[in-house]
Amino acid sequence: MAGIQPEIAVAAIPSDERVWVPQAPDVWFRPLLLNTVSGGWCNLLRVRKSGILSRHRHPMAVVGYVIKGRWRYLEHDWIAEEGSFVYEPPGEVHTLTVPEDCAEMITFFNIQGAMIYLDEQGRQNGYEDVWTKIGMCRAHYASCGLGADHVEQYIR
Ligand SMILES: [Fe+2]
Repeated sequence: MAGIQPEIAVAAIPSDERVWVPQAPDVWFRPLLLNTVSGGWCNLLRVRKSGILSRHRHPMAVVGYVIKGRWRYLEHDWIAEEGSFVYEPPGEVHTLTVPEDCAEMITFFNIQGAMIYLDEQGRQNGYEDVWTKIGMCRAHYASCGLGADHVEQYIR
C-alpha cells in the first residue's frame, strides 16, 4: 500500500562492532528502531561494568527483555536475569545497577517518550528522546567510518 513505512528485520546483535554507539565508558546502545512518529525507540543496552549506571524517570512506559547477564533497580527487590521480561510503569524513578559478578549485560528495551536522568537529590541532570538518540548515532557513525547515514535504516 502506498505510504506504508518499510519494515525492519535485522540481526539484533550486530556482527560489526561499530554499530554499537558509545553511551558512557563501558556502556553502549545498539539502535533497532528510532520512532519519530510516536516518539520513542527500541535498542539493545550493553554494559561491561558494574555499579550504578543511572537514576532516571520516564514519563511513558518501558518494556525490556534481558538477553544476557543481569541487573536490578535499587528501588526493587527483584533481579532481572537472562530471559526476564520487565515492565516499567510511567512516572517511576529507578536506579539501574549491574552486580559486580556480571561481566556483561545486554538488554532489549522499548522506550516510549523519553529518559529523564536524575541526580541523587532527584534533580534533572540529563534528558534523552528519539532525537537525541538519532544525534548520537549520526555523530558516532560519522566518526567510526560507517557514515552518518547508517542511522537512516533505523528511523521511521
Ligand atoms: Fe527505566
